[in-house]
Amino acid sequence: MYEEITLQADLCYRLAERKAAHYFASLYEQVKEQSYVSALTKDFQLWKQSHIGSHSLLSFFTTTIRKPDSRDYHNYIRWLNHTGKLDRFLDRSVSYIYMRDLGKSLNDPAAQTRIHQVVADVKKHLIRSTSAKEGTAPEFMSLAGLYRWAQKEGIEAAIIWVIDKLRTVAAHIPKEMNAEHSVRKLIKIITGVVLHVIEEMGDHTPPAERKRRLDEAIRLGYSYGLTYPFIDDLLDSPVLSVREKEQYGRMIRTALLTGTVPDPGKTTGPNKELIRFVHAELRDAYVYIKRNQLTETQRLFFEQSYIFFHAQDTDRAKVLANPNYTNEELYVPIILKSAYSRLIVRSVIHAPADDDIDQRTFYYGIYNQLADDFADMFEDMKTGAVTPYTYYLTYGGQRPDLINPFELYWAVISHLIHHVYDDDAKTREVILDRAVNGLKRCRQRVGVEQYNEIIAAFTSGMPEFNRMVQQMVKKADDVDFFDKLLRDRMVTVLKNDRNEKQQFLDTVKSVRQQINSMLLIPKQDGSPPMKDALIDSANYSLEGGGKRLRPILAWVMGVDEYGLQPAAIAPLLRSLEYMHTASLIFDDLPSQDNAPVRRGRPTLHEVHDSATAELTGLFLIQKAIEEQSSLVGFDAEVVMALMKYSSQRAGDMCAGQAMDLQSKGTVLTLEQLNSICYCKTGIAFEASLVMPAILAKADAAEIAGLTKFAYHAGIAFQIKDDLLDAEGDLQVLGKPAGKDVENNTSTFVTVLGRESAKKEMWEHYCLAMEELRKLPRSPVFLKHLLTYIITRDS
Ligand code: IPE
Ligand code: IPE
Ligand code: MG
Ligand code: MG
Ligand code: MG
Repeated sequence: MYEEITLQADLCYRLAERKAAHYFASLYEQVKEQSYVSALTKDFQLWKQSHIGSHSLLSFFTTTIRKPDSRDYHNYIRWLNHTGKLDRFLDRSVSYIYMRDLGKSLNDPAAQTRIHQVVADVKKHLIRSTSAKEGTAPEFMSLAGLYRWAQKEGIEAAIIWVIDKLRTVAAHIPKEMNAEHSVRKLIKIITGVVLHVIEEMGDHTPPAERKRRLDEAIRLGYSYGLTYPFIDDLLDSPVLSVREKEQYGRMIRTALLTGTVPDPGKTTGPNKELIRFVHAELRDAYVYIKRNQLTETQRLFFEQSYIFFHAQDTDRAKVLANPNYTNEELYVPIILKSAYSRLIVRSVIHAPADDDIDQRTFYYGIYNQLADDFADMFEDMKTGAVTPYTYYLTYGGQRPDLINPFELYWAVISHLIHHVYDDDAKTREVILDRAVNGLKRCRQRVGVEQYNEIIAAFTSGMPEFNRMVQQMVKKADDVDFFDKLLRDRMVTVLKNDRNEKQQFLDTVKSVRQQINSMLLIPKQDGSPPMKDALIDSANYSLEGGGKRLRPILAWVMGVDEYGLQPAAIAPLLRSLEYMHTASLIFDDLPSQDNAPVRRGRPTLHEVHDSATAELTGLFLIQKAIEEQSSLVGFDAEVVMALMKYSSQRAGDMCAGQAMDLQSKGTVLTLEQLNSICYCKTGIAFEASLVMPAILAKADAAEIAGLTKFAYHAGIAFQIKDDLLDAEGDLQVLGKPAGKDVENNTSTFVTVLGRESAKKEMWEHYCLAMEELRKLPRSPVFLKHLLTYIITRDS
């Protein structure tokens, strides 16, 4: 049976290989004959008219608006709009995507109509988002922006799911592999699959069906996209040993041949965790793809996947030390892998068969591959990877039979314009835009000197044609693309995010240390033993592994935002943690949640008894008041105002806790749930933000803004707490899970179910982010705190 399948798969591969060899032969011919040169020269002459030296009177007068760097995303879009270039920019960008990713032909009227429509939509969106007053529009490349879009489409569950998945993947990518890069690739592939599905649906799909298909597209996109970091990149990387790679490759092959991911067997060695994770993820992905396949497309999917994988494997097996590869051996596998990686998308989403699309996609792939390999030439040289360029650089001098990949690149372009896309003018425009843009970007990235070196190495056989091309690279304008802009933007956003997050974690860590060192209550000489026992109990509860979020928050606001001295606000920090710890002691009592473990140790009433626990709670609250009243260096009225605020809010918290206990077993409305969560939990966060603001005499508007932020952040925090109660683990949590069900407590999760609770949590996350953007100073720390709140596991 297995042999039969293998034979069948090999047969498919041979067929595809034959087609690729045929394609290569025709390209080879064009390179040898240099027949592409005259055709492309003419193309460039035509193209040039709208790209070089077309300074109209208008542009003469408007040269005062300096062109911003394209990496300055918002300004660049604004500039495009002001100079009237936005339409053309979007048109070439969208057309390109339709051609490359969707396999469309640009002279097809239906595709043209769609492209116009998409251009108009994107333009509207861009103008709105880039002209909006700073701070009011949600950043679309952010979790909140993404979630807001998901809400509009009704696919929150899929987005929550995929965000979780991406986070887990990033956490499991070994250091040698660059997690950011993998996540970006995954996002790109998911986006591609979603776009494909949107395109297949058109405008007339009923809303419920649209929802279902988008939800499916996201999950399929992830499932298919996983193969990039976890098959291709992993096998390319030095992470796995040779033996592990062999084993792993065999497993993938078996999966593709049989349609089932085999058991990994016993895994040992330093990568066992990784292999276990990757295996489980791939298996789930596989099952999902299979389950959503139509029987007609299932076979196609497996065939294409096999060809894709096998081509990649063949390509990967090459080593730069081998001087004997033939042109066919070099190019046929890359024609196959670049074509099949895109062809497969259509079978993944079970799109109806379309030979025209398939043909175009087949011929198109190598163009992209050669463009990408050109850009990565230096990297590949360093790592010793075999690509047409690195191989030619290494052996071109001694092997006159080797084809020059750069010449082949132009031959492919010419072939596409004239033979695949029937001399279509628009196609010529867009492909040449793209080609010139690629070279311009490379020149900018590696610097003129290195760029000239590369070019010199590849263009000796076509000096005149090259001179013309290089003139275009230097002088031509209006060749940039939106997807490149987005890519740059995404890299910047992800990089900033990573740095900010690291800073957030560092701050949390160091502030936590400082707080821990000032928290314990000292015993006084000669105090009665009963008092000492109470202090011991209080310190026992304080000492456990609390996160110290409330005092950390107050520290960051007070010190970093308002410039107060850490020593001056130390009493405030202590008071916040004392009150919070007291609330936990009460909350755990048998009369309330009856919890045996807190902060990783037995609760106070377990160690002693309820009376001790109650008295310790009271004692801590009194200590908190004592601390507040010893704030020095502030106006007495300010301290009084703070204490008044503090006691009022503590009273509201008691009310929240009372409502929580009273509502056991009842079905609460959303409004009631919000109000209970805000009172029992949100208020403490609010106080941590507002009390430093009171000390710093911040104005009422700012305090109001902070309060609104804290309202949503606090509720999000409690919903996450409820979710952890349903899903978490005692070891990680430091407190028992499952308490809410056991106690019949009415929480977001017990009332609404996990899925809806997650949606509510995300809704509050977005609302808090939106409030944050409105604040006069919107501390980066708070942004990351929010993300931490909803992603933490304890
Ligand atoms: C637990 O708060 C009580 C809730 C408001 C849900 P934390 O999760 O901040 O507890 P510690 O301080 O880290 O123990
Ligand atoms: C906590 O709510 C409210 C307090 C402020 C004490 P929970 O009862 O859900 O808190 P945990 O889960 O016990 O920490
Ligand atoms: Mg409780
Ligand atoms: Mg509790
Ligand atoms: Mg809880």
